[in-house]
Amino acid sequence: MRLFSSKSRHLIGLDISSTSVKMVNIQRQQGLFHLKSYAVEALPVGAVVDKIIVDTEIVGESVARVVKRGQVAGSQAATSVAGSAVITKIIDMDVALTDVEREAQIRLDADQYIPYPLEEVNLDFEVLGSSIVDDKLVQVLLAASRSENVDQRVDALAFGGLETKIMDIESHAIERAFGLMVDSLPGIPELVALIDIGHNQTTLYIAKNGEFVYSREQLFGGMQLTEAIQNRYGLSFEEATINKREHTLPDDYYLEILTPFMENVIQQINRSLQFYFSSSQYNNVDHVVLAGGSSSIPGLYGMVQQRLGVPVSVANPFINMTIDPFIDSEQLAVDAPSLMAACGLSLRSFD
Ligand SMILES: Nc1ncnc2c1ncn2[C@@H]1O[C@H](COP(=O)(O)OP(=O)(O)OP(=O)(O)O)[C@@H](O)[C@H]1O
Ligand SMILES: [Mg+2]
Repeated sequence: MRLFSSKSRHLIGLDISSTSVKMVNIQRQQGLFHLKSYAVEALPVGAVVDKIIVDTEIVGESVARVVKRGQVAGSQAATSVAGSAVITKIIDMDVALTDVEREAQIRLDADQYIPYPLEEVNLDFEVLGSSIVDDKLVQVLLAASRSENVDQRVDALAFGGLETKIMDIESHAIERAFGLMVDSLPGIPELVALIDIGHNQTTLYIAKNGEFVYSREQLFGGMQLTEAIQNRYGLSFEEATINKREHTLPDDYYLEILTPFMENVIQQINRSLQFYFSSSQYNNVDHVVLAGGSSSIPGLYGMVQQRLGVPVSVANPFINMTIDPFIDSEQLAVDAPSLMAACGLSLRSFD
């Protein structure tokens, strides 16, 4: 199992996150991307915790359901591990080595780079280009992930009838999906903040001319809103999740629960941006893109725009694609911001 392997047949993108399994199936028709199908299956609480699969069978059953709904049985897939589960290092190596020699050399020196025994990790590398210090050297990106993390994901996919061909890194997949929409942002912004507001976690990515140059995670997300709804109205987690999405809560919800949550989101975004500014030469961004399931909250993007004083868009990686007529476009508009990783993974078909 390689982390960066390529040269494959058609791949579907499969993202296992803390709340759901998401599948995206993109085809290329006459040079244009076409969204053939996608599916999202909610996971029960506790199936995936802190990006680690706790219950492989339950997750596998959800994979089987997205496979069935998306009609992609027997497919090969690209999936990902969280960046936090992967150690990456850039090292300089002799330009003249073959891939086989390079791998042997890396394995020999592995203990210098990786704090785990070699037999417990999946190791991969990719030559990035010539070194800045010496033209006889190349920069090589090393990536290592604990085998357990990788194996559990491969097993969950296999349970659902998918063969894992590529194990990517989540942030790389999101960056690839962002690349599909960056040219459609108004005003060709140089510095863009992409804010992925998930369930447990909110991640700020800073993209400079389309390339991610910074990221910062915070433990904050839609879970805070779900919990507030549960406490206020005495609902179970599942009930709160559905009511929050369907907008079927009492009138006082907007003022008492939702508005304070949105204020909190803005505060978190501001904090993360301040961290970035203090570590860079910049003190503002040109554009903000909101992604993740929580960015579908009506009114959030307008409030962020007003408070930050910066143009804000909601992520849609499918903006330049043709969409299959069987896909419900209204539902897709709601789901698209949380499909960045799955979309970026499915693009690995076209490496
Ligand atoms: N239409 C919606 N309105 C409001 N909240 C929503 C909507 N759709 C999803 N959410 C919320 O978004 C969150 C899930 O988003 P997402 O799928 O991006 O998270 P995740 O990737 O599973 O989580 P994490 O990144 O923390 O691992 C949940 O809290 C969910 O309740
Ligand atoms: Mg997420």
